[in-house]
Order: sequence, then C-alpha cells, then structure tokens
Amino acid sequence: MQFKEVYLSRRSIRRYKDKEVPLETIAEIIDLASYAPSSGNIQNWRLVVVTSTETKHELMESCLNQGWMMEAPVFIVVCNDYEKVKEHYGKLGKLYSIQNCSNIAFGLTLVAKEHGLGSCWVGAFDEEAVRRILKIPDNMDPEIIITLGYAEEIKSPSLRDIPNYITFFNYWGNKTFPFKSHIGRLKQIIKRPFKK
Ligand SMILES: Cc1cc2nc3c(=O)[nH]c(=O)nc-3n(C[C@H](O)[C@H](O)[C@H](O)COP(=O)(O)O)c2cc1C
Repeated sequence: MQFKEVYLSRRSIRRYKDKEVPLETIAEIIDLASYAPSSGNIQNWRLVVVTSTETKHELMESCLNQGWMMEAPVFIVVCNDYEKVKEHYGKLGKLYSIQNCSNIAFGLTLVAKEHGLGSCWVGAFDEEAVRRILKIPDNMDPEIIITLGYAEEIKSPSLRDIPNYITFFNYWGNKTFPFKSHIGRLKQIIKRPFKK
C-alpha cells in the first residue's frame, strides 16, 4: 500500500476476526513502530503485549467494560518510563514523555494497517487497575492500550474538519492559505471507499 492509502484507511477497528496474529508479525510491527520520534531519542516507551484471554478480560473490565475489546486477539499496552525524560527536560519532561508514547502508539496503528491488521486506540481505562493486572512498576504509567487483530469490519476513511478550519497562515486567524475545495475531497472519499 502507498503511504497515503495506509494513512487514510487506518480506522478504529472494534470488530475482529477470530484469528490469531503470529507473534512474528507482532514483533515486526513493534520493531517498525519503534522508529517513532521521541524527545532526545530517549524512547521511554515500554510495551506489554497481551494475548492471554484471562488477562485481556481483566484489562477490558478496567477499560470501562468496553466489551468489544475481547474480539481483538492482541492488546499492546504502551507504558511510560518517564523518569529519564523528566530528568532531562524538567517541567516539560512529563508532557514530552506522554507525547513520545503517543508517537509509538500511532506508529503501531499505522504499521499494523500496513501489515493488513486493524487496531484501535483505547485511552479510557483505570490506570491503577491496569497497573495491578500487568504488574507495572510504580515508576511508570500505562498510557495507551492498542487492540490489534484482523478486521471484521470495513470502514471508509472517517470525516475530519476541513483543513481551512484547522489552519491559519503566518499568524493566528489568517485564513488565506490556498486549500483545495473541501467538496472535491469529500467526493473523492465517497467514491473510493477503502477495503480492509
Ligand atoms: C486519546 C484517545 C483515546 C481513545 N480512547 C478510546 C476508547 O477508550 N475507546 C474507543 O473505542 N476508542 C477510543 N479512541 C478512538 C477514537 O474514538 C477514534 O480514533 C476517533 O473516533 C476517530 O476515528 P478513527 O480512528 O476511526 O479515525 C481513542 C482515541 C484517542 C486518540
């Protein structure tokens, strides 16, 4: 797939096939995603890959009981080993450490898509429960759970605010940037829904 197609066709997948993902595939996805940028290249992300049904069930309960998660054969819990980032960047360290974790998490979703897998970012969870279930040490935080598996649903690219709404040119409030018409973009998306 071309990068543009991977990027546009990545969607939050909440329905998965009952099919295991080979550990080699998970390893390759993690390896590629780890090329995400991080402040000072500190790479403070730590990942817990979960395939055990019992552990997934406990995690799902800690995610406000989002039952759909159980369809996913794999969870990847992105943890934040923030201490070194805080040492380096002081007040900004905590923010950077979370931004770094977000980078690898988004990378995981894109690389997964490129490998023919669906994923969903899960941010709604009880941090202390996740910490207890996975025995995560006190000096790091679970930040994000990524569900992973073969998609059982087909989704077209989701709609986004138009670039003209989210962008200013040279100074706040100036809308003179020459974006293409949004209608053209909508027509293109509707005409060409992406496959799984
Ligand atoms: C910080 C964050 C937290 C999220 N938490 C959840 C979640 O707990 N459960 C869920 O089903 N989706 C969650 N999502 C997925 C969003 O709902 C989804 O990305 C958004 O609706 C856009 O849809 P798309 O990913 O298909 O483009 C989260 C996404 C982000 C970035």
